[in-house]
Amino acid sequence: MKHLVAPSILAADFANLQRDVEMINTSEADWFHIDVMDGVFVPNISFGMPVISAINKHAKKTLDVHLMIVNPDKFITNFKKVGANILTVHYEACPHLHRTIQAIKDAGMKAGVSLNPHTPIAVLEDIIRDIDVVLIMSVNPGFGGQSFIENTYKKVIQLRDLIDKSGSKALIEIDGGVNEKTGKKLLAAGANVLVAGSFVFKSENPIKTIKKLKEL
Ligand code: DX5
Ligand code: ZN
Repeated sequence: MKHLVAPSILAADFANLQRDVEMINTSEADWFHIDVMDGVFVPNISFGMPVISAINKHAKKTLDVHLMIVNPDKFITNFKKVGANILTVHYEACPHLHRTIQAIKDAGMKAGVSLNPHTPIAVLEDIIRDIDVVLIMSVNPGFGGQSFIENTYKKVIQLRDLIDKSGSKALIEIDGGVNEKTGKKLLAAGANVLVAGSFVFKSENPIKTIKKLKEL
């Protein structure tokens, strides 16, 4: 499977959100990566339902919603209503992860699970076959523009092995500090989806930058 590219809206210009959404529509990007932060699970607050709804009005591609919030179970159907196609929760925020994943699927979305940099791949052993996407954090969640944690490559190799051995169909998505250089090594390690915020939106020509990431 050809890898996917998911620009992260967190790095967009919120005063020109429609323009940036349309730029992604025109580009070779595959998904919109949308970061929701609650100021509790992570030390930052981003945005919630009204902004996702506004993005959904213009977006013509999959909405990949990454929840960095405590108690995500409370809001699963709300995220479906505002247009989420993939809903990713953090392993560290879900004491009943199996139930949460089933609820996301029952609501009609693909289910993702994200792991913080310190969380080992092995915690997914008994749930990997139920997951559609594993989102490996390659920075500590909360902010864009941080530098890539090198230990991530090892985790991607371990996860690739777990997925292949278990017969899971989960995609491996990487989030944080992704650029041409880290992206290339991540794909070689077995990643399927590259999230990129600053690398895309701070570049001179975001459409060309997305194309570069697609051609890695
Ligand atoms: C970080 C978010 C990321 C962020 C990535 O907590 O989950 O999606 O936007 O930004 P970059 O690509 O700039 O590291
Ligand atoms: Zn994210």
